[in-house]
Amino acid sequence: MNKPIPFLDLSQIPLNLKNALKEKFSHMLEKGVFSGGEEVVLLESKLKEYLNVPFVIACSNGSDALEVAIRALGIGSGDEVLVPALTWVSTAEAVIMSGAKPIFVDTDHNGLIDLEKLDSMYTQRTKAIISVHLYGKMVDMEKLVSWSSQKNIRIIEDAAQAFGAFQNGISAGNWGDIGCFSFYPTKNLGALGEAGVLVTKNENFHDRSTQITNHGQIKRDEHLRIGRNAKIDSIQAGFLNVKMDYFESWQQKRKLLASMYLDSLKNIDGLKLPDDILEPNHNAHLFVIQTSNRNELKSFLETKGIGTAVHYPTIIPKMLPYLDGKEYPNAEKLSKCILSLPLNPWMKEEDILSISYEIKRFYL
Ligand SMILES: Cc1ncc(COP(=O)(O)O)c(C=O)c1O
Repeated sequence: MNKPIPFLDLSQIPLNLKNALKEKFSHMLEKGVFSGGEEVVLLESKLKEYLNVPFVIACSNGSDALEVAIRALGIGSGDEVLVPALTWVSTAEAVIMSGAKPIFVDTDHNGLIDLEKLDSMYTQRTKAIISVHLYGKMVDMEKLVSWSSQKNIRIIEDAAQAFGAFQNGISAGNWGDIGCFSFYPTKNLGALGEAGVLVTKNENFHDRSTQITNHGQIKRDEHLRIGRNAKIDSIQAGFLNVKMDYFESWQQKRKLLASMYLDSLKNIDGLKLPDDILEPNHNAHLFVIQTSNRNELKSFLETKGIGTAVHYPTIIPKMLPYLDGKEYPNAEKLSKCILSLPLNPWMKEEDILSISYEIKRFYL
């Protein structure tokens, strides 16, 4: 067997990055500021610049960002929120935690919320839609903004997987009313723990989100609304500041490796490759192929030491707490045929060639 290729092994990050992170940690340990402080301010200003968005609020993680966003928009009990059937569970969980009801919408053939189905799902109780940029590929936001502005419903972008994706030069997260990102360690920009950020163009939403993430305070000991503690951990902000300096080069590497996969795996009968992964509206977070032999291919690659993953094997409305008894044929079909291949900036070009070679052998 060749050298194993894990789906993702974060201990493989290069030595210079490890050293820069250690240095940041030592510096912060000496300073003694572990909540708020200059690293949080610096991170927010870096993110503002990179995303070209006026307001950013670094926070505890992407799930909390979604929940804070829903509450900041005044959505809660009695309201409905449209959510794609295929996503990470946080998207629906956040709706329920804010007191509203998720209404699931089937996906298109890429796993994104099917915009053609929105008219038939909309009711007078629909107050918002959460567009999930799944795998890093953006929903057609121009179309969605046009639809939702006619209906006067809010857009929350779940851009947890889409940091680094831009549509018509506008970043993911910057199209809707509030955008939410995750810096979970496996993301394109990942912390060394949990972290996330909310972004918005609207000052009022910014103020409310800032208050909700910090116990409803407008200033120390003045609590204007019910909030919670969803502040970012300053150490994580410090690590993210280090990693931001590498981000563009990592994106270039992801795109290069994705283009190698596309080239090596083209024209295989029964294998569908991801759409638009080299385009700016995709950040190449995950390289997701589709095949009716998914489980067999996954097991075959495992015997060759190649790790893969499934994002996600169960659609949300088929999970016990979210059962709604309805059918979502596209999302359901995808959940059975999608397979994520290893793709991260620390992989070598030979890794892509070996993985592609084994996949071709499987289909021969
Ligand atoms: C689509 C999606 N939404 C929300 C989240 C939640 O982010 P976090 O893990 O930072 O809470 C994730 C992260 O895994 C995600 O992939």
